This record gives sequence, structure tokens and C-alpha cells, in this order.
Amino acid sequence: MTYVITIDGPAGAGKSSVAKAVAHRLGINYLDTGAIYRAIALILAQAEVKPDNDEYLREALTKIRVELRDGKVLVNDFDVSGEIRTPEVDELASVYSAVPAVREALLGLQQEQEKHGSIVAEGRDIGSVVFPDARIKFFLTASPEARARRRYLERTRKGENANYDEILAAITDRDKNDSSRKTAPLTVPEGAVYLDTSDMTEEEAVTFILEHVKSEGNISQ
Ligand code: DC
Repeated sequence: MTYVITIDGPAGAGKSSVAKAVAHRLGINYLDTGAIYRAIALILAQAEVKPDNDEYLREALTKIRVELRDGKVLVNDFDVSGEIRTPEVDELASVYSAVPAVREALLGLQQEQEKHGSIVAEGRDIGSVVFPDARIKFFLTASPEARARRRYLERTRKGENANYDEILAAITDRDKNDSSRKTAPLTVPEGAVYLDTSDMTEEEAVTFILEHVKSEGNISQ
């Protein structure tokens, strides 16, 4: 029997690294739904399909095929995994993911992933909309300052230029977009375990989640 563990939360709360590590330790698949939104936003923006042109947007969406293969995101067979990790795509994804037609088009693709086995899926509406019947749900968050600090360190470690105040402003802005949009806003799903990681290391968050999963029983590890 396959099962789904969902991890929702705002940008920079450490969801990706925590979800990846949890999936790895449980020996199950990891689903990064943000990558799918990023890929579609990148392609729509490159094709100059405006987010408010509903008719054109819906037509364009029928021509775009997003696939997840071996940890890579492909759009019409073209690997965009690297290109989607930029501050520009952060913004684009936040804008396009608020459009109902985009969310409708991507729902099936996300739900289909359960066919390949059990998954740890992370995003914004995973426990509330995509997998409302998931076995265990988590909501991972951290203060905007803690999240900005992590993003700052991540960028400077990669040798990129980074400005803490700009990162903090961008995070606050995206929080507002993601939480206030009409369709599938970022919320704490019903029944989710709430975890504030502001003062936790990644390993502590992973351990907390694994302990909780174990305590639920009936999940083989
Ligand atoms: O997790 P991330 O930063 O890669 O997500 C990129 C954007 O996609 C973010 O602005 C929110 C959006 N997103 C969403 O609306 N629903 C999801 N399930 C995942 C991401």
C-alpha cells in the first residue's frame, strides 16, 4: 500500500531539504511541486503569455508538457532544472501559480506521482488540495528573518551576490502573494502537524518528522 506524507509551508522554511532527507531515510520518492510551478512559469514568461490573458494562457497550457524524470524537470522534453532556480523565476512562479488555470492544469500531474510509489510531497497546497487524504501532514514554517538568513547563506555559499534586506523584502512579498491568492492559498491543512524551524537545524527537523511518522505506526521503514 502506498502512502503520502505532505509538507507544506512558506518559501525558505527548509521544506525542500527536509522533505528530501525524510524521503531518502524512508526509502520513498520525493516530490517537489514548486519545481513544477517554476517550470511552467518560466516557459509561459518566455513565450510572453501574460498571466491575466486567461484564454491565451489556457490555450498555451494545452501545448506545454511538464514531466518529472530522475529528479529533473522537463518541459516538452527540454531539461529546465537549472534555469528554474533563479530569483527571477522565484517571482514568476509566485505570479503564475496564483492563476487558477495554471493550478488546474498542474493538479493531475502532481496527483499522478503516487502511481510510482509512496511519496513525501512538498509545496503550498499539498495537504489541503492535492492530497487531502494524505496519511500524515506537516506544516513547516520559520520566521521571515530566519528564512531570509538561510537564503542569504545559501546564495553567498554558492559565491553569488546577495543582499539580506532585499531577500527579506522578497520573502515577505512572496508570503503575501502565496497566502492571499484566491485559489489554493498557503494555509495550514486540517490535521497538519505545525513545526516552526526558526531555531532548529535541518537534522532536528528531519528527526522530528521521522519520529512523528514512526509514532503513527503502520508505515514500514
Ligand atoms: O517552493 P518553491 O519556492 O519552489 O515554489 C515556487 C512558487 O510556486 C511559490 O511562489 C509558490 C508556488 N507553489 C504553489 O503555489 N503551490 C505549490 N504546491 C508549490 C509551489
